[in-house]
Amino acid sequence: MQVSENVLLKSYNTFGIDAVARYFASFSTVEELREVTEQQQLPQMILGGGSNILFTQDFNGWLLKNEIKGISVVKEDNDYVYVKAGAGENWHQFVQHCIGLNLAGLENLSLIPGNVGASPMQNIGAYGVEIKDVFHELEALHLKDRSIVTFNNTDCHFGYRESVFKKEYRQQFAILSVTYRLSKQPHFNTSYGAINEELQRMNVSDLSIQAISQAVINIRSSKLPDPAKIGNAGSFFKNPTISKEQYTALHAAFPQLVAYPVADEQFKLAAGWLIEQCGWKGYRKGDAGVHAKQALVLVNYGHAKGSEIYDLSQQVLDSVEEKFGVLLEREVNIC
Ligand code: EPU
Repeated sequence: MQVSENVLLKSYNTFGIDAVARYFASFSTVEELREVTEQQQLPQMILGGGSNILFTQDFNGWLLKNEIKGISVVKEDNDYVYVKAGAGENWHQFVQHCIGLNLAGLENLSLIPGNVGASPMQNIGAYGVEIKDVFHELEALHLKDRSIVTFNNTDCHFGYRESVFKKEYRQQFAILSVTYRLSKQPHFNTSYGAINEELQRMNVSDLSIQAISQAVINIRSSKLPDPAKIGNAGSFFKNPTISKEQYTALHAAFPQLVAYPVADEQFKLAAGWLIEQCGWKGYRKGDAGVHAKQALVLVNYGHAKGSEIYDLSQQVLDSVEEKFGVLLEREVNIC
């Protein structure tokens, strides 16, 4: 395992931010990870695909890139196949691999940037499916006591873009592998309107996991910027949840409000709509901007500093709060 000093991170984060890590190493086995994390004084941070992080400053510590690979079937019963993947596997390639095996459950989550290890971390979700719906268990190394711990679905405390690894166990574990419970018989989820529209446009008559995956790929490619071309980390903010009373008042003031009911008599708002209404869609200052096709996505057109993207996010947040009285929460990890 090679350790490098003062490493430029531009190619290690999808925002394309030019930060520097004091020390940088990649690990492809748990032994290598144990070795590099032994008796370290400086802070340590595990990096996956770098697709949900904004570096606002240089990182004065050890940045450890997870390159643990491998995909295998570990168990099978009448209905399900349990597939285990190394945390360093690329997410979309893993999804395509499972679709190739005719295993259902991940097709709605096609083309999400990042690695397998990040999927339980923030309970990734798109087009009506979240990882918690197919998650079986994961293995993680406790960075301090160095034990390997298995977490099942309940242990992870999954919520909307949340898990125990973003909260109480933040920076305490390195996820090593994740096992998903995939269905032999597909249960198609086309509840998200845009999928049906796209399937019709594609003239799909026989619904399949392959067709749903392609529909999702088409929708994502048409709305979301490709990080290989324009730096970004997907949705920068979460869609906020508000009470029924607040919804009723807001809806009266803004009849076009985009919202849908969720559990406990609450309502989820489309943050992209709120941001667009504040006039930010397509905004650009220097190389920092708000994507022209999806206002929830902040972008780096080339050489924006992390602090410039962060400042823009604060302006967006302030204006949404001022206009709608709703406080947005950042979804991207700020470092
Ligand atoms: N909208 C606007 N203007 C915009 C963007 C959105 O008016 O600029 C409104 C539209 O009415 C649209 C609605 O918001 O119908 C929802 O937009 P979209 O379908 O693009 O979904 P989203 O709520 O903005 C969420 C996830 C995405 C995920 C999509 C599809 C969050 C924070 N984001 O976005 O996840 O792909 O749904 O399920 O929940 C990500 O997490 O990085 C991500 C891209």
